[in-house]
Amino acid sequence: MNRILIEGGIPLRGEIPVSGAKNAVLPLMAATLLADGICVIDDVPALADVNTMCQVLASLGTKCNLSDSTLSIDTSGVYSIEAPGELVRKMRASFLIMGPLLAKHGSARMSLPGGCAIGARPIDLHLKGFESMGAEISIGHGYIEARASKLIGNRVYLDFPSVGATENIMMAASLAEGNTVIENAAEEPEIVDLSNLLSAMGAKIKGAGTSIIRIEGVEQLKAARHTVIPDRIEAGSFMVMAAATGGDVLITNVISEHLKAVIAKLEDCGAQVIEELDGLRVVGNPQIEPADIKTMPYPGFATDMQAQFTAYLSCCRGTSVVTETIFENRFMHIEELNKMGADIRVEGNSAIINGVSHLKGTSVVATDLRAGAAMIIAGLMSKGQTEITEIQHILRGYENICEKLSACGAKIKFAQ
Ligand code: EPZ
Repeated sequence: MNRILIEGGIPLRGEIPVSGAKNAVLPLMAATLLADGICVIDDVPALADVNTMCQVLASLGTKCNLSDSTLSIDTSGVYSIEAPGELVRKMRASFLIMGPLLAKHGSARMSLPGGCAIGARPIDLHLKGFESMGAEISIGHGYIEARASKLIGNRVYLDFPSVGATENIMMAASLAEGNTVIENAAEEPEIVDLSNLLSAMGAKIKGAGTSIIRIEGVEQLKAARHTVIPDRIEAGSFMVMAAATGGDVLITNVISEHLKAVIAKLEDCGAQVIEELDGLRVVGNPQIEPADIKTMPYPGFATDMQAQFTAYLSCCRGTSVVTETIFENRFMHIEELNKMGADIRVEGNSAIINGVSHLKGTSVVATDLRAGAAMIIAGLMSKGQTEITEIQHILRGYENICEKLSACGAKIKFAQ
Protein backbone atom coordinates (compact mmCIF):
# COMPACT_ATOMS: atom_id res chain seq x y z
CA MET A 1 0.00 0.00 0.00
CA ASN A 2 2.31 2.74 -1.20
CA ARG A 3 0.15 4.63 -3.70
CA ILE A 4 -3.23 6.34 -3.80
CA LEU A 5 -5.20 6.24 -7.08
CA ILE A 6 -7.98 8.77 -7.78
CA GLU A 7 -10.48 9.08 -10.65
CA GLY A 8 -11.29 12.79 -10.41
CA GLY A 9 -14.17 15.03 -11.45
CA ILE A 10 -16.79 13.63 -9.07
CA PRO A 11 -18.54 16.09 -6.67
CA LEU A 12 -18.35 14.79 -3.09
CA ARG A 13 -21.76 14.27 -1.51
CA GLY A 14 -22.53 12.93 1.97
CA GLU A 15 -21.02 13.09 5.45
CA ILE A 16 -17.43 12.91 6.74
CA PRO A 17 -16.60 12.40 10.44
CA VAL A 18 -13.45 14.13 11.72
CA SER A 19 -11.03 12.23 13.97
CA GLY A 20 -9.16 13.38 17.08
CA ALA A 21 -6.48 16.00 16.47
CA LYS A 22 -2.98 14.71 15.65
CA ASN A 23 -1.38 17.94 16.85
CA ALA A 24 -3.26 17.73 20.15
CA VAL A 25 -2.80 14.03 20.92
CA LEU A 26 1.00 14.08 20.51
CA PRO A 27 1.63 16.66 23.28
CA LEU A 28 -1.10 15.03 25.40
CA MET A 29 0.81 11.74 25.18
CA ALA A 30 4.05 13.46 26.20
CA ALA A 31 2.30 15.10 29.17
CA THR A 32 1.48 11.68 30.69
CA LEU A 33 5.18 11.46 31.65
CA LEU A 34 4.55 14.15 34.27
CA ALA A 35 2.60 11.75 36.50
CA ASP A 36 3.01 8.18 37.77
CA GLY A 37 0.07 5.93 36.98
CA ILE A 38 -2.27 5.23 34.05
CA CYS A 39 -3.52 8.15 31.94
CA VAL A 40 -6.36 7.43 29.49
CA ILE A 41 -6.90 9.50 26.34
CA ASP A 42 -10.11 9.07 24.29
CA ASP A 43 -10.79 9.82 20.60
CA VAL A 44 -7.19 9.06 19.66
CA PRO A 45 -6.76 8.73 15.87
CA ALA A 46 -5.04 5.61 14.48
CA LEU A 47 -2.17 7.46 12.77
CA ALA A 48 1.46 6.66 12.04
CA ASP A 49 2.57 9.58 14.23
CA VAL A 50 0.56 8.28 17.21
CA ASN A 51 2.22 4.91 16.74
CA THR A 52 5.65 6.55 16.65
CA MET A 53 4.94 8.47 19.86
CA CYS A 54 3.82 5.19 21.50
CA GLN A 55 7.18 3.71 20.50
CA VAL A 56 9.01 6.70 21.95
CA LEU A 57 7.14 6.42 25.26
CA ALA A 58 7.61 2.64 25.34
CA SER A 59 11.38 3.14 24.89
CA LEU A 60 11.34 5.07 28.19
CA GLY A 61 9.58 2.24 29.99
CA THR A 62 5.93 3.19 29.72
CA LYS A 63 3.21 0.75 28.62
CA CYS A 64 0.94 2.09 25.85
CA ASN A 65 -2.21 0.36 24.69
CA LEU A 66 -4.48 1.75 21.95
CA SER A 67 -7.78 0.01 21.34
CA ASP A 68 -10.82 1.47 19.58
CA SER A 69 -9.43 5.02 19.80
CA THR A 70 -8.88 4.79 23.57
CA LEU A 71 -5.20 5.03 24.53
CA SER A 72 -3.98 4.08 27.99
CA ILE A 73 -0.43 5.02 29.03
CA ASP A 74 1.05 3.52 32.19
CA THR A 75 4.07 5.60 33.25
CA SER A 76 4.71 3.84 36.57
CA GLY A 77 7.58 1.88 35.05
CA VAL A 78 9.59 4.70 33.44
CA TYR A 79 13.28 3.77 33.78
CA SER A 80 14.95 5.82 31.04
CA ILE A 81 15.33 9.50 30.19
CA GLU A 82 16.67 8.88 26.69
CA ALA A 83 14.62 8.29 23.55
CA PRO A 84 16.19 6.38 20.61
CA GLY A 85 17.70 8.68 17.98
CA GLU A 86 15.96 7.05 15.03
CA LEU A 87 12.53 7.72 16.55
CA VAL A 88 13.26 11.36 17.45
CA ARG A 89 14.70 12.01 13.99
CA LYS A 90 11.65 10.32 12.41
CA MET A 91 9.13 12.56 14.15
CA ARG A 92 9.97 16.05 15.40
CA ALA A 93 7.10 16.02 17.91
CA SER A 94 9.09 13.41 19.91
CA PHE A 95 10.96 16.44 21.27
CA LEU A 96 7.87 17.22 23.35
CA ILE A 97 9.02 14.64 25.90
CA MET A 98 11.98 16.87 26.86
CA GLY A 99 9.98 19.19 29.13
CA PRO A 100 8.12 16.45 31.02
CA LEU A 101 11.26 14.29 31.52
CA LEU A 102 13.24 17.30 32.73
CA ALA A 103 10.51 18.32 35.16
CA LYS A 104 9.67 14.86 36.48
CA HIS A 105 13.05 13.07 36.34
CA GLY A 106 15.54 15.93 36.39
CA SER A 107 17.16 15.09 33.08
CA ALA A 108 16.52 14.18 29.45
CA ARG A 109 18.73 13.13 26.56
CA MET A 110 17.86 12.73 22.89
CA SER A 111 19.14 13.30 19.42
CA LEU A 112 18.52 16.75 17.98
CA PRO A 113 15.17 16.51 16.17
CA GLY A 114 16.65 18.02 13.02
CA GLY A 115 14.81 19.66 10.21
CA CYS A 116 12.32 18.19 7.84
CA ALA A 117 11.05 18.83 4.32
CA ILE A 118 9.28 22.08 5.22
CA GLY A 119 12.04 23.78 7.15
CA ALA A 120 14.99 23.79 9.55
CA ARG A 121 12.62 23.47 12.55
CA PRO A 122 15.05 24.79 15.22
CA ILE A 123 14.43 24.25 18.94
CA ASP A 124 16.14 27.36 20.33
CA LEU A 125 12.93 28.68 21.92
CA HIS A 126 12.31 25.39 23.71
CA LEU A 127 15.86 25.53 25.13
CA LYS A 128 15.54 29.21 26.06
CA GLY A 129 12.56 28.27 28.22
CA PHE A 130 14.30 25.35 29.93
CA GLU A 131 17.45 27.41 30.59
CA SER A 132 15.43 30.28 32.01
CA MET A 133 14.05 27.77 34.54
CA GLY A 134 17.57 26.75 35.54
CA ALA A 135 18.22 23.76 33.31
CA GLU A 136 21.75 23.10 32.05
CA ILE A 137 21.75 22.23 28.35
CA SER A 138 24.62 20.52 26.55
CA ILE A 139 24.69 19.75 22.84
CA GLY A 140 27.26 17.57 21.12
CA HIS A 141 27.59 14.87 18.45
CA GLY A 142 24.00 15.42 17.34
CA TYR A 143 22.65 14.87 20.86
CA ILE A 144 21.09 17.24 23.34
CA GLU A 145 21.09 16.75 27.10
CA ALA A 146 19.19 18.77 29.70
CA ARG A 147 19.66 18.56 33.46
CA ALA A 148 18.01 20.32 36.40
CA SER A 149 17.80 19.09 39.99
CA LYS A 150 14.74 21.32 40.33
CA LEU A 151 13.27 23.71 37.76
CA ILE A 152 12.55 27.19 39.10
CA GLY A 153 9.64 29.16 37.64
CA ASN A 154 10.53 32.25 35.61
CA ARG A 155 9.26 34.67 32.97
CA VAL A 156 9.88 33.45 29.41
CA TYR A 157 9.36 35.65 26.35
CA LEU A 158 9.04 33.68 23.08
CA ASP A 159 10.52 35.61 20.15
CA PHE A 160 8.02 33.69 17.99
CA PRO A 161 4.74 32.15 19.27
CA SER A 162 6.08 28.63 18.74
CA VAL A 163 3.44 25.92 19.33
CA GLY A 164 5.94 23.26 20.41
CA ALA A 165 7.98 25.59 22.61
CA THR A 166 4.81 26.83 24.35
CA GLU A 167 3.76 23.22 24.99
CA ASN A 168 7.19 22.04 26.17
CA ILE A 169 7.68 25.00 28.53
CA MET A 170 4.10 24.76 29.88
CA MET A 171 4.64 21.08 30.71
CA ALA A 172 8.03 21.72 32.35
CA ALA A 173 6.67 24.67 34.35
CA SER A 174 3.80 22.57 35.74
CA LEU A 175 6.21 20.83 38.16
CA ALA A 176 8.68 23.72 38.62
CA GLU A 177 9.12 25.52 41.94
CA GLY A 178 7.25 28.83 41.86
CA ASN A 179 5.51 30.63 39.03
CA THR A 180 6.22 30.79 35.31
CA VAL A 181 4.81 33.29 32.82
CA ILE A 182 5.09 32.52 29.11
CA GLU A 183 4.78 35.73 27.07
CA ASN A 184 4.04 35.79 23.35
CA ALA A 185 2.81 32.22 23.78
CA ALA A 186 1.16 30.33 20.91
CA GLU A 187 -2.66 30.49 21.08
CA GLU A 188 -3.57 27.38 19.06
CA PRO A 189 -6.51 25.22 20.28
CA GLU A 190 -4.06 22.36 20.84
CA ILE A 191 -2.40 24.47 23.59
CA VAL A 192 -5.78 24.81 25.32
CA ASP A 193 -6.38 21.06 25.01
CA LEU A 194 -3.00 20.32 26.61
CA SER A 195 -3.72 22.83 29.38
CA ASN A 196 -7.02 21.07 30.05
CA LEU A 197 -5.31 17.69 30.51
CA LEU A 198 -2.60 19.22 32.70
CA SER A 199 -5.25 20.90 34.86
CA ALA A 200 -7.09 17.57 35.20
CA MET A 201 -3.76 16.14 36.40
CA GLY A 202 -3.59 18.86 39.08
CA ALA A 203 -1.57 21.57 37.33
CA LYS A 204 -2.38 25.24 37.97
CA ILE A 205 -2.49 27.01 34.59
CA LYS A 206 -4.25 30.20 33.49
CA GLY A 207 -4.40 31.90 30.10
CA ALA A 208 -3.92 28.99 27.69
CA GLY A 209 -5.28 30.14 24.31
CA THR A 210 -4.04 33.69 24.90
CA SER A 211 -0.55 35.14 24.42
CA ILE A 212 0.18 35.14 28.17
CA ILE A 213 0.09 31.82 30.05
CA ARG A 214 0.66 31.72 33.82
CA ILE A 215 1.68 28.45 35.49
CA GLU A 216 2.00 27.95 39.25
CA GLY A 217 4.25 24.94 39.79
CA VAL A 218 2.94 22.11 42.01
CA GLU A 219 4.71 19.29 43.86
CA GLN A 220 3.27 16.44 41.84
CA LEU A 221 0.66 15.59 39.25
CA LYS A 222 -1.69 12.61 39.07
CA ALA A 223 -2.89 10.49 36.17
CA ALA A 224 -6.14 11.62 34.52
CA ARG A 225 -8.54 10.85 31.66
CA HIS A 226 -9.08 13.25 28.72
CA THR A 227 -10.79 13.37 25.31
CA VAL A 228 -8.83 14.85 22.39
CA ILE A 229 -10.33 17.80 20.52
CA PRO A 230 -11.35 17.22 16.88
CA ASP A 231 -8.65 17.74 14.24
CA ARG A 232 -9.24 21.23 12.79
CA ILE A 233 -6.72 20.66 9.99
CA GLU A 234 -8.27 17.35 8.91
CA ALA A 235 -11.67 19.09 9.04
CA GLY A 236 -10.38 22.02 7.00
CA SER A 237 -8.85 19.64 4.45
CA PHE A 238 -12.20 17.89 3.94
CA MET A 239 -13.99 21.25 3.69
CA VAL A 240 -11.66 22.23 0.85
CA MET A 241 -12.23 18.87 -0.86
CA ALA A 242 -15.99 19.44 -0.73
CA ALA A 243 -15.64 22.97 -2.13
CA ALA A 244 -13.05 22.04 -4.76
CA THR A 245 -15.21 19.27 -6.25
CA GLY A 246 -18.37 21.41 -6.28
CA GLY A 247 -19.86 18.99 -3.79
CA ASP A 248 -22.17 19.16 -0.79
CA VAL A 249 -20.70 17.58 2.34
CA LEU A 250 -21.55 17.67 6.07
CA ILE A 251 -18.31 17.55 8.11
CA THR A 252 -19.13 16.21 11.58
CA ASN A 253 -17.25 16.29 14.92
CA VAL A 254 -15.89 19.81 14.38
CA ILE A 255 -15.45 22.89 16.58
CA SER A 256 -16.39 25.68 14.15
CA GLU A 257 -14.64 28.30 16.30
CA HIS A 258 -11.32 26.62 15.38
CA LEU A 259 -12.09 27.04 11.67
CA LYS A 260 -13.01 30.73 11.38
CA ALA A 261 -10.16 31.60 8.98
CA VAL A 262 -10.85 28.55 6.79
CA ILE A 263 -14.60 29.31 6.68
CA ALA A 264 -13.94 32.95 5.77
CA LYS A 265 -11.56 32.01 2.93
CA LEU A 266 -13.88 29.33 1.53
CA GLU A 267 -16.67 31.93 1.41
CA ASP A 268 -14.31 34.42 -0.29
CA CYS A 269 -13.75 31.72 -2.93
CA GLY A 270 -17.51 31.40 -3.52
CA ALA A 271 -18.29 28.27 -1.49
CA GLN A 272 -21.14 28.16 1.03
CA VAL A 273 -20.43 27.10 4.63
CA ILE A 274 -23.53 26.44 6.72
CA GLU A 275 -23.26 25.83 10.48
CA GLU A 276 -25.62 22.95 11.27
CA LEU A 277 -26.46 21.28 14.57
CA ASP A 278 -24.06 18.36 14.05
CA GLY A 279 -21.36 19.93 11.96
CA LEU A 280 -20.38 22.23 9.12
CA ARG A 281 -22.02 21.79 5.71
CA VAL A 282 -19.89 22.89 2.75
CA VAL A 283 -21.51 23.48 -0.64
CA GLY A 284 -19.02 24.07 -3.44
CA ASN A 285 -19.40 26.49 -6.33
CA PRO A 286 -18.11 25.43 -9.77
CA GLN A 287 -16.79 28.99 -10.16
CA ILE A 288 -13.84 29.41 -7.78
CA GLU A 289 -13.24 33.09 -7.04
CA PRO A 290 -9.61 34.20 -6.60
CA ALA A 291 -8.46 34.95 -3.05
CA ASP A 292 -5.26 36.11 -1.34
CA ILE A 293 -4.02 34.11 1.66
CA LYS A 294 -1.30 34.83 4.23
CA THR A 295 -0.45 32.20 6.81
CA MET A 296 -0.22 33.46 10.41
CA PRO A 297 -0.11 32.03 13.92
CA TYR A 298 -3.55 31.16 15.33
CA PRO A 299 -6.17 32.63 15.12
CA GLY A 300 -4.77 33.67 11.73
CA PHE A 301 -4.89 31.42 8.68
CA ALA A 302 -3.11 28.14 9.53
CA THR A 303 0.09 27.25 7.70
CA ASP A 304 -1.15 23.65 7.81
CA MET A 305 -3.99 24.66 5.47
CA GLN A 306 -1.83 26.53 2.95
CA ALA A 307 -1.06 23.66 0.56
CA GLN A 308 -4.72 22.60 0.45
CA PHE A 309 -5.90 26.08 -0.53
CA THR A 310 -3.10 26.44 -3.08
CA ALA A 311 -4.44 23.32 -4.81
CA TYR A 312 -8.02 24.61 -4.64
CA LEU A 313 -7.07 28.08 -5.99
CA SER A 314 -5.15 26.53 -8.92
CA CYS A 315 -8.51 26.59 -10.77
CA CYS A 316 -9.67 30.01 -9.57
CA ARG A 317 -11.21 32.52 -12.00
CA GLY A 318 -8.29 34.98 -11.99
CA THR A 319 -5.06 35.39 -10.02
CA SER A 320 -4.53 34.48 -6.33
CA VAL A 321 -1.50 35.10 -4.09
CA VAL A 322 -0.64 32.72 -1.24
CA THR A 323 2.04 33.92 1.19
CA GLU A 324 3.70 31.52 3.64
CA THR A 325 5.13 33.31 6.68
CA ILE A 326 5.64 30.42 9.13
CA PHE A 327 7.94 27.92 7.38
CA GLU A 328 10.70 28.63 4.91
CA ASN A 329 10.12 25.76 2.50
CA ARG A 330 6.46 24.91 2.38
CA PHE A 331 5.81 25.22 -1.38
CA MET A 332 6.98 21.77 -2.55
CA HIS A 333 3.43 20.89 -3.61
CA ILE A 334 3.59 23.60 -6.30
CA GLU A 335 5.92 21.69 -8.63
CA GLU A 336 3.56 18.72 -8.38
CA LEU A 337 0.50 20.89 -9.05
CA ASN A 338 2.18 22.39 -12.12
CA LYS A 339 2.72 18.81 -13.41
CA MET A 340 -1.10 18.57 -13.39
CA GLY A 341 -1.48 21.70 -15.50
CA ALA A 342 -1.56 24.38 -12.81
CA ASP A 343 0.12 27.73 -13.55
CA ILE A 344 1.82 28.74 -10.29
CA ARG A 345 5.13 30.51 -9.78
CA VAL A 346 6.97 31.13 -6.52
CA GLU A 347 8.35 34.58 -5.76
CA GLY A 348 10.11 34.65 -2.37
CA ASN A 349 7.60 33.41 0.20
CA SER A 350 4.61 33.95 -2.08
CA ALA A 351 2.98 31.71 -4.66
CA ILE A 352 1.37 33.55 -7.58
CA ILE A 353 -1.49 31.41 -8.91
CA ASN A 354 -2.87 32.11 -12.39
CA GLY A 355 -6.09 30.11 -12.36
CA VAL A 356 -6.57 27.49 -15.08
CA SER A 357 -9.85 25.97 -16.28
CA HIS A 358 -9.00 22.46 -15.04
CA LEU A 359 -6.20 20.16 -13.89
CA LYS A 360 -5.23 16.91 -15.61
CA GLY A 361 -4.63 13.70 -13.67
CA THR A 362 -1.06 12.36 -13.71
CA SER A 363 1.52 10.80 -11.37
CA VAL A 364 2.55 13.09 -8.51
CA VAL A 365 4.52 12.83 -5.26
CA ALA A 366 3.36 13.60 -1.72
CA THR A 367 6.43 15.57 -0.57
CA ASP A 368 5.14 16.11 3.01
CA LEU A 369 1.98 15.64 5.04
CA ARG A 370 -0.08 18.64 3.97
CA ALA A 371 1.33 18.63 0.42
CA GLY A 372 -0.06 15.09 0.27
CA ALA A 373 -3.49 16.41 1.21
CA ALA A 374 -3.11 19.00 -1.54
CA MET A 375 -2.39 16.21 -4.04
CA ILE A 376 -5.62 14.46 -3.00
CA ILE A 377 -7.55 17.70 -3.53
CA ALA A 378 -5.95 18.19 -6.94
CA GLY A 379 -6.69 14.59 -7.89
CA LEU A 380 -10.33 14.90 -6.85
CA MET A 381 -10.61 18.12 -8.92
CA SER A 382 -8.89 16.73 -12.00
CA LYS A 383 -10.16 15.07 -15.14
CA GLY A 384 -8.72 11.56 -15.42
CA GLN A 385 -6.64 9.41 -13.07
CA THR A 386 -4.13 10.73 -10.56
CA GLU A 387 -1.51 8.50 -8.92
CA ILE A 388 0.03 9.77 -5.66
CA THR A 389 3.24 8.15 -4.45
CA GLU A 390 5.17 8.52 -1.15
CA ILE A 391 1.84 8.33 0.65
CA GLN A 392 3.48 7.48 3.98
CA HIS A 393 3.45 11.24 4.55
CA ILE A 394 -0.34 11.32 4.20
CA LEU A 395 -0.86 8.40 6.58
CA ARG A 396 0.88 10.42 9.32
CA GLY A 397 -2.08 12.76 9.65
CA TYR A 398 -5.22 11.42 7.93
CA GLU A 399 -7.00 8.42 9.48
CA ASN A 400 -8.96 6.18 7.05
CA ILE A 401 -8.69 8.86 4.33
CA CYS A 402 -9.78 6.66 1.39
CA GLU A 403 -12.65 5.12 3.36
CA LYS A 404 -13.95 8.54 4.47
CA LEU A 405 -13.83 9.98 0.93
CA SER A 406 -15.20 6.87 -0.81
CA ALA A 407 -18.24 7.13 1.48
CA CYS A 408 -18.93 10.48 -0.21
CA GLY A 409 -18.70 9.07 -3.73
CA ALA A 410 -15.01 9.68 -4.42
CA LYS A 411 -13.25 7.12 -6.63
CA ILE A 412 -10.13 6.83 -4.46
CA LYS A 413 -8.19 3.76 -3.31
CA PHE A 414 -4.88 2.56 -1.99
CA ALA A 415 -2.75 0.50 -4.39
CA GLN A 416 0.57 -1.34 -4.22
C1 EPZ B 1 3.41 22.58 15.20
O1 EPZ B 1 4.77 22.37 14.84
C2 EPZ B 1 2.62 21.58 14.38
N1 EPZ B 1 3.04 20.22 14.72
C3 EPZ B 1 2.84 21.85 12.89
O2 EPZ B 1 1.99 20.95 12.18
C4 EPZ B 1 2.40 23.27 12.59
O3 EPZ B 1 2.66 23.56 11.22
C5 EPZ B 1 3.18 24.25 13.47
O4 EPZ B 1 2.97 23.90 14.86
C6 EPZ B 1 2.73 25.69 13.27
O5 EPZ B 1 1.37 25.80 13.50
C7 EPZ B 1 2.58 19.67 15.87
O6 EPZ B 1 1.86 20.29 16.63
C8 EPZ B 1 3.04 18.27 16.14
P1 EPZ B 1 6.35 25.92 15.73
P2 EPZ B 1 5.93 23.11 15.69
O7 EPZ B 1 7.31 25.63 16.82
O8 EPZ B 1 5.56 23.16 17.12
C9 EPZ B 1 10.10 28.43 14.34
C10 EPZ B 1 1.42 19.42 10.50
O9 EPZ B 1 1.35 19.55 9.26
N2 EPZ B 1 10.70 27.99 15.60
O10 EPZ B 1 5.15 26.76 16.01
O11 EPZ B 1 7.21 22.49 15.32
C11 EPZ B 1 10.01 27.29 13.33
O12 EPZ B 1 11.21 27.18 12.61
C12 EPZ B 1 2.59 20.00 11.27
O13 EPZ B 1 0.54 18.85 11.20
C13 EPZ B 1 11.92 28.53 15.99
O14 EPZ B 1 12.49 29.37 15.30
O15 EPZ B 1 5.85 24.57 15.06
C14 EPZ B 1 8.87 27.71 12.44
O16 EPZ B 1 9.36 28.59 11.44
C15 EPZ B 1 3.64 20.62 10.35
N3 EPZ B 1 12.50 28.11 17.14
C16 EPZ B 1 7.94 28.47 13.38
O17 EPZ B 1 8.73 28.78 14.55
C17 EPZ B 1 11.91 27.17 17.95
O18 EPZ B 1 12.46 26.84 19.01
C18 EPZ B 1 6.73 27.68 13.81
O19 EPZ B 1 7.19 26.54 14.51
C19 EPZ B 1 10.67 26.62 17.54
C20 EPZ B 1 10.09 27.05 16.36
